[in-house]
Amino acid sequence: MSIIISPSILSADFANLGQDIKTVEKYGADWIHVDVMDGHFVPNITIGVPVAASIRKITNSPLDVHLMIDNPYKFIEPFAKAGADIITFHYEAVKAYSMDLERDIKDLIEKIKSFGIKASISIKPKTDPQVLQPYLNMLDMVLVMTVEPGFGGQKFMDECAKKIKFIKQNAPQNLIIQVDGGINSDTAKICTSYGATSLVAGSYIYKSDNIEQAIKSLRG
Ligand code: DX5
Ligand code: ZN
Repeated sequence: MSIIISPSILSADFANLGQDIKTVEKYGADWIHVDVMDGHFVPNITIGVPVAASIRKITNSPLDVHLMIDNPYKFIEPFAKAGADIITFHYEAVKAYSMDLERDIKDLIEKIKSFGIKASISIKPKTDPQVLQPYLNMLDMVLVMTVEPGFGGQKFMDECAKKIKFIKQNAPQNLIIQVDGGINSDTAKICTSYGATSLVAGSYIYKSDNIEQAIKSLRG
């Protein structure tokens, strides 16, 4: 399976977002990674539904929406209607409010799928991948965070990437395993050797002098 490259627009220039998306598309990006932060689940605020809807108008690439927000259930429908193709929510966000965690996570997955789009769950660095076991057969993708979510440009944590191995061993073959945080050409190799099939990269791509080469180097 070829690796799905999903550049994170968090490191793009928001005043030139359309152009910055066109650039990564031209150089072979497969998806566009949209980091949504609410200032509660993570200590940063980024973009919301109207921006996702505007991005949808200027690209045909799949929109890979990463929700780092407290109440993902409330925002599934708005982001699906704005044109998301993949929606990732955080296990820890649901755990914080849920009285019936397994039921609530399954509901979220079903809700995402009811819009005909891909459902994905993410775990933060301190979360054990075993918590995902009950959902692996229902999911299209798992996103393994290799930094604490909230900011671009942080250092890759190898011990988090090792969780990919557990997921790979326990998931159906077609589950996409995505990693996000501190990905560059070196850490990309580590992740794909563990079994990752999708890589998110923000600063490595957008801060590069040669974006074409940066994207190519992620493919190994
Ligand atoms: C971090 C975000 C990432 C971020 C990655 O919370 O989820 O998608 O943009 O940035 P880099 O690739 O710079 O670590
Ligand atoms: Zn992300």
